[in-house]
Amino acid sequence: MILPPPGTLLGEVEGIPDPGGIIANWAEAPIILACRDGEVRAYLNICPHAGRPLNLPNGKVFAHGGDTLICPAHGAVFDILSGACAGGPAGSSGLTPVSVDVRDKRVYAV
Ligand code: FES
Repeated sequence: MILPPPGTLLGEVEGIPDPGGIIANWAEAPIILACRDGEVRAYLNICPHAGRPLNLPNGKVFAHGGDTLICPAHGAVFDILSGACAGGPAGSSGLTPVSVDVRDKRVYAV
């Protein structure tokens, strides 16, 4: 899997649901951008339970309970800010983080 080189623009902060997530603007690898209370994170868009993507067909990832993302396949939930599994069938496996930096309301790979 090819991760975005440092400096790659992955998306605009205002395009990310808060709380929630959305597919990043990077086609070489599945990445989602997630936000809670203005804090932005990025993760591989691969659920550790069975490898399905977390997004819905519209590209968005549902927030669950205000502070977690929910996988639409079987309902695993993940803390938005840490990626840790917070319930459901993924057990102790969390989302894989992707390092990002926010500058001028834009999200860049680090
Ligand atoms: S693939 Fe995500 S909960 Fe099963």
